[in-house]
Amino acid sequence: MNYPPHESAEKHVTGEAVYIDDILVNERLLVGRVVYSPHAHARITSSDLSAARNVPGVRAVLSYKDIPGHNQMGPVVKDEPCLAEKEVFCIGQAMFLIAAETEAQCREAERLIRVEFEPLEAILTLEQAIEKKALLGPSTNIERGMVDEELRKSAHVLRGELRTGAQEHWYLESQVCLCMPGEGREINVFSSSQHPSETQALIAEVLNIPKNEVVAEVRRMGGGFGGKETQANHTACWAALLCNATHAPVKIRLFRDDDMIMTGKRHRFLSRYEIGFTNEGEINAASFELNSDGGMAIDLSFAIMERAMLHVDNAYYIPNLRVVGNVWKTNLPSNTAFRGFGGPQGMAVMETVIDRIARFLKKDAADIRRRNFYGTDARNTTHYGQQVENNRIPVIIRQLLASSEYEKRRRECNEFNEENEFLKKGLAITPVKFGISFTTTFLNQAGALVIIYKDGTILVNHGGTEMGQGLHSKMQQVAAAEFGVSLDRVKVNATNTAKVPNTSATAASAGADLNGMAIKNAADILKARIAEEVARIFTEEHPSAPSGPASVRFEHEQIFDSDHPDRKIPFSEAMPVLNQRQVSLSATGFYKTPDIGWDKRKGFGKPFHYFAFGMAVTEIVLDVLTGRHTIVRTDILHDVGNSLNPGIDLGQIEGGYIQGVGWCTTEEIKWDERGNLMTHSPDTYKIPSVQDIPKDFRTQLLEGVPNPNTIRQSKAVAEPPFMLSLSCWLAIKDAISAVADHKFEPEFSLPATNEVILLSIENLKQKLTAEHQTAREVAAVR
Ligand code: MTE
Ligand code: HPA
Ligand code: MOS
Repeated sequence: MNYPPHESAEKHVTGEAVYIDDILVNERLLVGRVVYSPHAHARITSSDLSAARNVPGVRAVLSYKDIPGHNQMGPVVKDEPCLAEKEVFCIGQAMFLIAAETEAQCREAERLIRVEFEPLEAILTLEQAIEKKALLGPSTNIERGMVDEELRKSAHVLRGELRTGAQEHWYLESQVCLCMPGEGREINVFSSSQHPSETQALIAEVLNIPKNEVVAEVRRMGGGFGGKETQANHTACWAALLCNATHAPVKIRLFRDDDMIMTGKRHRFLSRYEIGFTNEGEINAASFELNSDGGMAIDLSFAIMERAMLHVDNAYYIPNLRVVGNVWKTNLPSNTAFRGFGGPQGMAVMETVIDRIARFLKKDAADIRRRNFYGTDARNTTHYGQQVENNRIPVIIRQLLASSEYEKRRRECNEFNEENEFLKKGLAITPVKFGISFTTTFLNQAGALVIIYKDGTILVNHGGTEMGQGLHSKMQQVAAAEFGVSLDRVKVNATNTAKVPNTSATAASAGADLNGMAIKNAADILKARIAEEVARIFTEEHPSAPSGPASVRFEHEQIFDSDHPDRKIPFSEAMPVLNQRQVSLSATGFYKTPDIGWDKRKGFGKPFHYFAFGMAVTEIVLDVLTGRHTIVRTDILHDVGNSLNPGIDLGQIEGGYIQGVGWCTTEEIKWDERGNLMTHSPDTYKIPSVQDIPKDFRTQLLEGVPNPNTIRQSKAVAEPPFMLSLSCWLAIKDAISAVADHKFEPEFSLPATNEVILLSIENLKQKLTAEHQTAREVAAVR
């Protein structure tokens, strides 16, 4: 395959890529530091900042009283103070800010801050929150059909509970922001943010200045994964307050441990389910209750719960379905967006259900999945009323079962397990159907500003941000293709709120869909203008046979008249001529996703422009004595429409899968009984490494499936592959189950850490022993 590499690939590798911490600033640059609460819940009874303020080199020590504007940084609901006032609600909540010439001076000042607390009762688990009825907002529900009645009529009903864990984003670049004072009230902000427009807006609010005084710029992030959709704003607001107070450039870069302690994570869920199904394993009714740990404030928790509820069906048609969502308040940092945005939590429940039905009926889970998949002509409407159009599941399952040799390997696993006592193999196939669009419908918009300079080079500004996912590469390709020029003629600018305003976060996997279309819109406007003038030029040269703008084309670095192919002018030569002829060579573009509409309150409508589909088969081998597993082989077949860049898309799919494997297996977040994060560094928190990559990793893009009505018929890629990792999780369960010859249902939760695995195996062995004992007793009585 021939495709351009990531536009910054070389710079990433050589270290030349400029991240915030690499930006050269003058010698006046100050170091900013955040002093945070050591209590999960407490009243601040007194504080004294005077000694800290007197430390030499310290230029500012700020409390909430020093905030010129609104003490708020909540993104949707204003429930998050920028600096704590009278009460703190979690360990890690910001209380004071320090700016000094050196880091050491900051630490000395922090040591001298005197604060007294009166500790208050804290809620640290979902169970406690549920018991105390501490909801962050009203429960929501989506319902179709006659759930209770159908459950009663079902041949079989299974009930259960599933816990899924939190997850730390572990972006390589921790939260960071550099603020530089401009003239008057101006402030220039360099933030590692997925959402520069919101960064700009919140800084304007805390500083009490209008938005047109704030410029937020993002060249690139060293990873975001949702962790910088809202919470990059926090560090940015703090840096802006210090910059404003000192009239000097200030940079705050959170240390890894502080970042892990202070910022929110993926929401942990406690989910309950009740499933009715036939003897053949066809599901006819399901009732789900999803409980999420929102943390101390709302942040995006309700949107995340909504997406979980919209994905609890995953790829399966359930005629009668009810899902209730509760977002609970705890004294932990406010949990936030993380790749999949609730989707993984919802789908994990459904995939557990399918797996349990299969084990209950003693059938292969792949058969239960096939029986319940959404159809193409019938059984194709979701519980919220959206039709599953262009359903790719049937073609994917067909191709993947064949290419992965699923049936043969299923038999081989069984044989292996019969022959081995201490090693067991597990195999699972799981699908993904993921809705593409922000479920907050108005957010589905994007802007662009495309500029052509007189030398024929093009500068593309768009509202999306680059976090490693390759958005800028794709946008460069889109612009080059629209103008029919080579890639090296096109540069994508750093994202800047003064160039493209009022943008949405780069999130919901929709970055390329939305910004690509906005760029195309700007290019179309420019091409229409250029075509008109070029046609005029051609006509001046051939007055007897005029050219019209309708037949002007842009291809292979040329602008030409397709009706008279000899009339042509190189793109680069045309631009100075057009400038002399007073043609404007810059244009803004805009796009909003058409044909979507979603009534949140009714839980009904068409929230998504389309669905992305994929499927994975994972085979693992489990060491029964240690609980350690190895991924032997993974086969993925994923649908990205007509890929904009297969290299980038394959990278997103593999990366997403591995990130999901981390969530499903080793990444375990623990707090102690006081609410201290115990897993606050890489020595206690285990993300996947090269060792955890499947030994045999076969990822393929589904071919020949152009996506209607999107930029160059492509499809979003970013988040959906994350959830393919559920195949790894269920393969582990399959291997555990083999320990007792699939006689009993293993206890299982997510993440399946070594500890979870060993306890589950132990439990199965006890059941086996008990069974033998009973058999012996029965024999003795006889
Ligand atoms: N890939 C890399 N390398 N780094 C990231 O931070 N974030 C993911 C995904 N892939 C991320 C990534 C998340 S959570 C989202 S929503 C999308 O990228 C955002 O970008 P896109 O909409 O342009 O795909
Ligand atoms: N996905 C990601 N981010 C969001 C969404 C969504 O659906 N809605 C609001 N922010
Ligand atoms: Mo991605 S969680 O939508 O930033």
